[in-house]
Amino acid sequence: MNRSTLLHHARLLAAAGLLAALAACGSDRQAPPAALPSAAAPKHDSRLALVPAPASMTPGEGRLALGNGTTVLAGDEAARAVAGQFAALLERGRGIRLRIGDDKQGAQGAIRFVLDPARADAGREAYLLEVTPAGATVRAADATGLFHGAMTLLQLATIDAAGAWLPAVRIEDAPRFSWRGFMMDPARHFWSVDQVKQVIDAMALHKLNVLHWHLTDDQGWRVEIRKYPKLTEVGGCRIPAGDGGIDPVSGQPRPYCGYYTQDQVREIVAYAAARHITVVPEINQPGHATAAIAAYPELGSTSTPLQPSSEWGVFPNLFNTEESTIAFLEDVIGELVPLFPGTYFHIGGDEAVKDQWEASPRVQARMREVGAKTEMEMQSHIVARLEKFLAAHGKRLVGWDEILEGPLPPEATVMSWRGTEGGLKAAREGHDVVMSPSGDLYLDYLQTESPYEPPGRPATITLRQVYDFEPVPAELEEDRRHHILGLQANLWTEHTRTWERFEHHVFPRLAAMAETGWTPAARKDYDDFLRRLPAQLERYRAWGIGYALTPFQVDAVAVDDRKAGTVEVALDNPLGYAVHYTTDGSEPSASSPAYKAPLTLTLPARLRAAAFADGQPLAPARDYAWDAASLLTRSDEQLGICPDAGRLLLRLEDDGPADGERAIFNTTIFYPCWQWNAAELDGVAAVKVRAGRIPYYFQLAHDEPHRTFEPARSAHGELDIHAGGCNGQRVASVPLPATTGEDGFVELEAPLAESPGGRQDLCLRFTGDTRPQMWVIDRVTLQLR
Ligand code: ACM
Repeated sequence: MNRSTLLHHARLLAAAGLLAALAACGSDRQAPPAALPSAAAPKHDSRLALVPAPASMTPGEGRLALGNGTTVLAGDEAARAVAGQFAALLERGRGIRLRIGDDKQGAQGAIRFVLDPARADAGREAYLLEVTPAGATVRAADATGLFHGAMTLLQLATIDAAGAWLPAVRIEDAPRFSWRGFMMDPARHFWSVDQVKQVIDAMALHKLNVLHWHLTDDQGWRVEIRKYPKLTEVGGCRIPAGDGGIDPVSGQPRPYCGYYTQDQVREIVAYAAARHITVVPEINQPGHATAAIAAYPELGSTSTPLQPSSEWGVFPNLFNTEESTIAFLEDVIGELVPLFPGTYFHIGGDEAVKDQWEASPRVQARMREVGAKTEMEMQSHIVARLEKFLAAHGKRLVGWDEILEGPLPPEATVMSWRGTEGGLKAAREGHDVVMSPSGDLYLDYLQTESPYEPPGRPATITLRQVYDFEPVPAELEEDRRHHILGLQANLWTEHTRTWERFEHHVFPRLAAMAETGWTPAARKDYDDFLRRLPAQLERYRAWGIGYALTPFQVDAVAVDDRKAGTVEVALDNPLGYAVHYTTDGSEPSASSPAYKAPLTLTLPARLRAAAFADGQPLAPARDYAWDAASLLTRSDEQLGICPDAGRLLLRLEDDGPADGERAIFNTTIFYPCWQWNAAELDGVAAVKVRAGRIPYYFQLAHDEPHRTFEPARSAHGELDIHAGGCNGQRVASVPLPATTGEDGFVELEAPLAESPGGRQDLCLRFTGDTRPQMWVIDRVTLQLR
């Protein structure tokens, strides 16, 4: 609970100076584009820095000028539509107004979009783009190919504020995979129609073609179903945990609501279709169904009344197995099928723990009726029914890889999320497969080790890891490889409460995934991708796409030598771009000293550093300062977690204030234990800990028994401190209060009986099971004698 985090942030900033490496006040907001120094004309070839890289590209001689009045020519209607889209986007991104003409006669210097049936062999998505000083032409057999060609032209044109022209080039291009997807989760946090459209726009610019729309989950039912209005009336609202769910004025519960009407669905699907993107809806069953069961309890497998949940994790609540419930699912799907013209319909199927079915005599009786020997076979029975229903409506079923655990109709497509093993097995069994493994393509995992990352799952999935993911397993037999339709990046939004954080997680990692989806494997080259990335960032700024700055900034790790009065500072840019720094407080430039090896600075010290490509800063410089006092403090981001605590490290946001900025904590929910590795303990008299408290809002299903608590020795438990790691001697302990202070924090002071001395790992952990709350560490300070 925390009512004054803003104050906390302000104070922390003041106390720490601009102690970025040491402060827990990481902002995930990228600075607005205006904060970046305006880029001087980049090198010539940055215009050809296309993302995703085309299948083949031959630079030509000269350039084609672009300006207000440059003509775009298109013959038939489909080509005219693409020409119009290109002109609108160019005006939006570059402020250039093209004139759209009829392709009756060629115009000097014009851009032509030509539907060319002779190119049909290359495929619907393929295009040929030729730019010469005399004009530009995009040719394709289909409007989809023309559109991809238009997006390439737009990329060529959206570089370099100094002059508008297209470099001469010949590009012959077609995608490697037919499914290049992104999954959006409006169930945990809701995204407006306008935000969905922004996602679609950005997908088009990356040549992605499938938007997987995760419309239902435990926390919310997000799509209007006319036959079942309570799905959205009841299932569309949850009360957020803790202070976030209390109206600060009235003190009453404040629901968090949202759903898309069917008219809005039509609008979004049409918007996507105009950008050659197919929307695949997901109705999740039999698990992730709490919101639906809260609306219609007769659908559930429990007699306990349910509410749409504001907790995260895996819930026990499954739809029951009655014919009437299958009819309900068919009704829902039946209402949605006409709204989604695409081939695929996603029926979920993941994380359906079967405890309720095992405990239900009625479900057990139904299993006997349908001949299901296991609960998984019961699930398969429902999947098979839905598959038939979808096939009768001309649709193909896709589901998460758990659906492979029981008998599965051969027509079903498998989305492999628990690694690639499910996808490999499915392809071998003859199913089509989309690869979206959580360890490589889940964008709610953080992307750098920076303390400035927003909340998320802090197992780090770097840009490189996303880039390097290969959807076709090496061991998959040649004659089964065609079953790998492609890949998909997923953004779950439990920990993503704001649009800025959404964009932070998605960009630029989506660009890396897009390249794998589009570019021939043999042409992929990570170093080359990094060289092209600054141009893509320039386009993001022109197109109004927010992106993570953390990969483009400089992190500092400082090791103090208190006796010498110095600090040794290691600098790092997460992507390996060149780092330049100053120590006199001035803005670093490309001619400032280049960082090569750790620096030894005399206290007090200041350091400003930025990462550079082609002589230009990639993001605003970070500003660091250290003095003798600041080196005695560590934020939770700088602490390690205890060796036994690593099952699920989360970067969690405070529950309050209801509106505005909230503190963020690194914590583990299985074993709340932190470690200050190699702390200098000479002369230390006490350890001060600033601790916060957040709701314990997790459902762990079968992982629940893996949680560990040290037994409490007093009414509210205590904070224990051990030296030499958690198995070392307990050197201090302080009882915990019943509640925090008004500001949501407590300051705990633990005097050391005797100073252990030397450098030792300091282990800090809370005892007792404090649910429904949990204590978290915000900051640790060593107090000297
Ligand atoms: C999933 O991440 N549960 C599909």
